[in-house]
Amino acid sequence: MEKSPVPLAVLISGRGSNLKAIVEAIEGGRLRARIAVVISNRGDAPGLAFARDQGIETRVMPHGDHATREEYDGALAAAIRSYDVRLVCLAGFMRRLGPAFCAAFPNAILNIHPALLPAFPGMNAQRQAFEHGVKLAGVTVHFVTPELDAGPIVMQASMPVLDADTADSLADRILKLEHEIYPQAIQRILDGGWAVDGRRVTFRTATP
Ligand code: GRF
Repeated sequence: MEKSPVPLAVLISGRGSNLKAIVEAIEGGRLRARIAVVISNRGDAPGLAFARDQGIETRVMPHGDHATREEYDGALAAAIRSYDVRLVCLAGFMRRLGPAFCAAFPNAILNIHPALLPAFPGMNAQRQAFEHGVKLAGVTVHFVTPELDAGPIVMQASMPVLDADTADSLADRILKLEHEIYPQAIQRILDGGWAVDGRRVTFRTATP
């Protein structure tokens, strides 16, 4: 169990509502961490302004500044390393991260995806699920590997799809669930006592 807040890096590309949920969980004492840096690949990401308002250090690292994915990933990894963070939390970061980046932070990069993986990876997962007609929707927090939305699963939560739902109302309710689950999953990983065995993440203690 961690005694003092451990440093996190949060990577965003847009709105930043999951970033906000992480900040609120920290402020509410539900997540014993601090955000050392928020990095966005887009200078106009609204989440950046939120982070600045909170007094959190921000960096803009546009992927267009680098000729190749490998170069970008290398620069991103170097920047993150300089903050000596325990975990890298992707929160709507809309860039694939290559093998070298993933290897630089083994079992230390988390992502949240708005579907019950392995169903509906990729973009617009909530709409994919809605249009498929699933009766249970949900969210997945997983370790990041170079394969899109395919890393070992840390935590999932589900909720019923209502007959009255539209794709938008479903996406709204999924987002609320994301905001509950992501800080919980981050704390669970920071608490330790887990292992990754192939695709399976197992915990020594029961899920709270
Ligand atoms: C969320 O739906 C998240 O699951 C997905 O991207 C979206 C980011 O939203 N990976 P926000 O920027 O956190 O509001």
